[in-house]
Amino acid sequence: MSGSSEDVKWGWESFYRKYAPDRLPWETGKPDSNLVELVEKGKIARGRVLDICSGLGTQTIYLAVQGFEVYGIDISPTAVDMAKQRCRKKGAVCHLTAGDAANLKYPDGFFTFIFDRGCFHHIRPQRRERFIKGLHRVLAEGGRYFMTCFSWRNGPAWNHFKVSDIRGYFSKHFRILETREESFVENVSGRKLYFLSFLMEAKKKGNAAPESSRDSSTLKRKPATGGKR
Ligand SMILES: C[S@@+](CC[C@H](N)C(=O)[O-])C[C@H]1O[C@@H](n2cnc3c(N)ncnc32)[C@H](O)[C@@H]1O
Repeated sequence: MSGSSEDVKWGWESFYRKYAPDRLPWETGKPDSNLVELVEKGKIARGRVLDICSGLGTQTIYLAVQGFEVYGIDISPTAVDMAKQRCRKKGAVCHLTAGDAANLKYPDGFFTFIFDRGCFHHIRPQRRERFIKGLHRVLAEGGRYFMTCFSWRNGPAWNHFKVSDIRGYFSKHFRILETREESFVENVSGRKLYFLSFLMEAKKKGNAAPESSRDSSTLKRKPATGGKR
């Protein structure tokens, strides 16, 4: 596997063709509790939002129903087709595209918010910088990014992270506002998995902060909730 966009696409495509939605470990059919909290606490500015690596569209549909103008992108055309059907069934307006999250085609400053539930941690190390620059480019001034990824507490792996790893990758382009850790027992395997979540704000010309006020977030631990991946 070279980790090229085509390899990644066919890897996920075969997954979605093989397994029914109820066999996908991250698919609970319910909106993510962190996303619900962000919406309910008014932490997402009204406007255009992106569900990056949108899968079967569960989070996309929730955002549409909450009144956001929502876009979704996923590398698997099968997942995107299934998500489109689910959106139609729910009467939700979602702009869904099959494409690579590390090669975003949206205009500069297009979104006020990007939601990432299990996307960054699937981006190969050699493509991470490109992915992060793309997020920063398509976010408007004051735009926010919420990301959940695998924690190092699951054991060593190329895509298990410590808070310090995430700071290292993102701090050039993002200010970390909140950091939390949670665990979850997977419905398919019964394994307990740990995740880290981050709420970040894009650093743009108009909101530059002094060095001392950057990345001041402290880690909060949260009890287990619904499935992720
Ligand atoms: C663990 S699933 C999460 C799906 C969705 N975010 C959710 O929470 O239900 C990861 C998703 O990322 C997609 N994906 C992986 N690499 C991608 C890439 N480079 N660009 C776009 N989507 C990608 C996969 O097709 C899959 O749908």
